[in-house]
Amino acid sequence: MYRSKIAGLGGKVPENVVTNFDLEKVMDTSNEWIIERTGIHERRFVTQPCGTSELALPAVKDAIREANIDKDAIDLIIVATTTPEHQFPGTSSFLQALLELGTVPTLDIRVQCSGFIYGLSIADQFIKTGTYQNILLVGAEVQSVGLDLTTEGRDTAILFGDGAGAAVIRRSDDDSEIMSTHLFGDGTHARDLWIDAPVGYESPRISKEMLDARRQYPFMNGRQVFKNAVTRFPEVVTAALEANQWTKEDIKLVIPHQANMRITEAIAKRLDLPLEKVYSNIHRYGNTTAASIPLAMVDARKEGKFEKGDKLILAAFGSGFTWASAAVIW
Ligand code: COA
Repeated sequence: MYRSKIAGLGGKVPENVVTNFDLEKVMDTSNEWIIERTGIHERRFVTQPCGTSELALPAVKDAIREANIDKDAIDLIIVATTTPEHQFPGTSSFLQALLELGTVPTLDIRVQCSGFIYGLSIADQFIKTGTYQNILLVGAEVQSVGLDLTTEGRDTAILFGDGAGAAVIRRSDDDSEIMSTHLFGDGTHARDLWIDAPVGYESPRISKEMLDARRQYPFMNGRQVFKNAVTRFPEVVTAALEANQWTKEDIKLVIPHQANMRITEAIAKRLDLPLEKVYSNIHRYGNTTAASIPLAMVDARKEGKFEKGDKLILAAFGSGFTWASAAVIW
């Protein structure tokens, strides 16, 4: 068995900053309400037609550069996204063409906010077995164009932002290592955070009636999401600690999916960790779904929150419901 590690990271958000005050202009909401309930001050929205793969490209290039490999050394592309540019094929196909990567296999995964960790787990298995040596893993979202930016959609529209993160996962030749990954799901909550239409069992899959009924926009049962998130996040962090016989004191930083600041605070409280040990940058970007963990890793590292040899726990919870964690030695 080989060992795997995260060898390079990259992050990209659109230049266009959308503040809570900007949202006040298009819906009945307030800067105070958004900050109090979510911790979000601003997010980024793309301004021109920009596919998810296009947004991801600069992040990918940075990750490849840091991993110090030639792009042609990539054996597999995994993209986690909730917002692919088309129904099919997946965003990984478009990204592979942008990267001019010949016949390298492409794989999209659809586990929303948990996508980056599920992808990390898939990459880890391929590296451990020796099947592949270098895997490009991307979490990227262009959510802004699919949000209901009116008062009717305000409970979800204020949460989400656009962004992309990328990592190169490769065979480890030093002490850095993906130690373990832990994946979970509960489909009985599938309709508690979802987009109904296009509907796979109706013909046509999208109709004027569906659009008029606003079924193309995200729907969220906020209370169910909150209640489950504050239970599942601590559970899955604990699973990662126990699997490696790590104590909370061993951990330099927990990097959770940036769902909502109140959820992050609840995680810290339930795990009895100081808030400084549970990273947050949601005030800057909002909830960027599959992109949030790699973007948080990029920012946390830039801020000096961890360095080589540190033990990290990555954790996510989101639509599905799905939740996951990873124990990583950086
Ligand atoms: N601005 C102002 N008011 C808003 C609003 C907005 N953007 N969105 C909703 N409201 C209103 C509601 O209409 C409701 O009004 P009413 O009392 O007149 O009916 C009121 O605010 C309170 O709504 P409620 O749903 O009770 O708020 P809440 O305290 O449960 O907070 C969330 C709502 C969404 C912030 C909260 O449920 C939450 O954090 N859920 C988890 C969401 C999340 O993290 N999702 C991402 C998962 S990956």
